[in-house]
Amino acid sequence: MPLPYPSGWFCLALSREVPAGAVVNRRFMGRDVVLYRTRGGVLRVVDAHCPHLGAHLGAGGVVDGEHLVCPFHRFAFDVEGSCVKVPGGAPPEAALARFTVRERGKVVLVWHGHDAAPPAWEPSEIPDGRFTPAASWSTLLTSHPQEVMESFVDYRHQSVVHNVSLREVTPPVEEGPLLRISFSADIRLSVRLATITVEQGVALSGLGLASGEVTLHQIGMTLGIVLMATPVGPWQTRLRVVTTTEAASRADSPRLRKAASMSWSAVAGQALVRTIAHQMGQDARIWNRKRYEPNPRLTSDEDAIGHYRRWARQFYPPDTGPTGTS
Ligand code: FES
Ligand SMILES: [Fe+2]
Repeated sequence: MPLPYPSGWFCLALSREVPAGAVVNRRFMGRDVVLYRTRGGVLRVVDAHCPHLGAHLGAGGVVDGEHLVCPFHRFAFDVEGSCVKVPGGAPPEAALARFTVRERGKVVLVWHGHDAAPPAWEPSEIPDGRFTPAASWSTLLTSHPQEVMESFVDYRHQSVVHNVSLREVTPPVEEGPLLRISFSADIRLSVRLATITVEQGVALSGLGLASGEVTLHQIGMTLGIVLMATPVGPWQTRLRVVTTTEAASRADSPRLRKAASMSWSAVAGQALVRTIAHQMGQDARIWNRKRYEPNPRLTSDEDAIGHYRRWARQFYPPDTGPTGTS
């Protein structure tokens, strides 16, 4: 791979995809992992294979109370990963390999580091709409998270690929694993709604997670957009987009106001996610066929891309070699 897997926080699911009692399969960085939630609500992400004789826990494994039970010989594992129960015998000293997991704004994130050390930093908060369940969309790309997230600082492609006028407001600001990007954009929510110019900020939290929130005062609405890129295999990335909306309504009674806001928010959330999905489809045509260019020949107004690439180096082991600095 021209770029290795980066360290950081990566989305494996939306929280609602893993209700209590569920066992869910995912690919993550070339391996199978299993997400499960106990009856008491504890969420865990573990290596998919049982340390006893290697059965796949996502192929018939079940949650029993606070335990995950293997489908092959019914060994039970507690939330620490330890094997604690074996039918008709004493459990061997065995444990499931666990990932460090966080839930932020109804999104499940796992940590990937280049060594066994605990997470070096925490993911930023994710906007969580007060009224609407998040609208979401997802696709699989032949690409890498660094390439996907680079589009936030690639202002030139916005007008060519998306026909969107987007301008840098200030150069990106670096705060360790966070990169704050500010731009102004003309947003068209849907063909029937007017075009609105907004100044928007997006914060990258490593290479796996970007989130931003924008308030449209003219129509009394706050939009939250979360974009997540998860490496599932070599040069394969699962892209997820979650939008949340919060709309004010002018109805007189508080109950009516809330009901009107909820439905208006839901409509706007769906419209927003459709717009983003359309744009990501346009990007995917480029991403899926492009190659990683470690030494891009940038124009004088593309400093943000060089800055982004230098910032991104912190997510790779120091001996990785040049990841592209321009
Ligand atoms: S392989 Fe899991 S209990 Fe035997
Ligand atoms: Fe794009």
